[in-house]
Amino acid sequence: MKGIILSGGSGTRLNPLTKMTSKQLLPIYNRPMIYYPLNTLLKAGIKDILIIIAPEHAGNYLNLLGSGREFGARFTYEIQDEPRGLAEAFIIAESFLDNEDVAMILGDNIFENDFSEDIKSFEKGGRIFAKKVSDPERFGVVEFDENKKVISIEEKPENPKSNHAIPGLYVFDNRVSKIAKQVEPSERGELEITEIHNAYLKMGELDVRTFDGDWVDAGTFDSLLKAQIIAKEKLQGGLIV
Ligand code: G1P
Repeated sequence: MKGIILSGGSGTRLNPLTKMTSKQLLPIYNRPMIYYPLNTLLKAGIKDILIIIAPEHAGNYLNLLGSGREFGARFTYEIQDEPRGLAEAFIIAESFLDNEDVAMILGDNIFENDFSEDIKSFEKGGRIFAKKVSDPERFGVVEFDENKKVISIEEKPENPKSNHAIPGLYVFDNRVSKIAKQVEPSERGELEITEIHNAYLKMGELDVRTFDGDWVDAGTFDSLLKAQIIAKEKLQGGLIV
């Protein structure tokens, strides 16, 4: 399985911090933010990783991460010229993936949980995750019935049908680039990842798993602060790089 870290976007919500560097390179306690999602992939044994970055601060990524050799991995880079959505990553990554399965993680998502078994045991279809949050309207939201069967998946609904948010870690089989190419832009002009989830759901091949431990999408000042505290108090022992 190959890996993608999607580290694009302009991070405007974190201005002026993101004027000088990319959001995903900002410090989270004693490491640049992207080290945390990188740890999630490396711990699952994924070593061939595509890092998708915005053009503005691309040089900083090369300086920081380089070839990947230092991390026992191999890094490839691609530019996402405009923030056209998460699903576009699978189109940008098509030749890199070369028909292999993929685990994609967002460069600003920080997890306490170890997903190694969820990733290593993946065989086919799509596997995504769900976590109860107090502000589901900020995220993709999944609704379950009483038997934990998925009923609906919606992107940032105004009136969320549940408080189960879908975090930025996604495992898909080698059909994902083809599926991504069929996605139409949403109202906000993005290729939404929830469209991919819904495509696998429709085929009856989407596995949605709940998980333990903290999760932060560090895209706002408050969540950035929360991520710092969690990183210091809970994550240090589990990091390999
Ligand atoms: C994106 C996805 C959303 C997901 C979230 C996780 O939102 O569109 O489905 O729940 O990442 O962090 P964004 O952060 O791009 O607004």
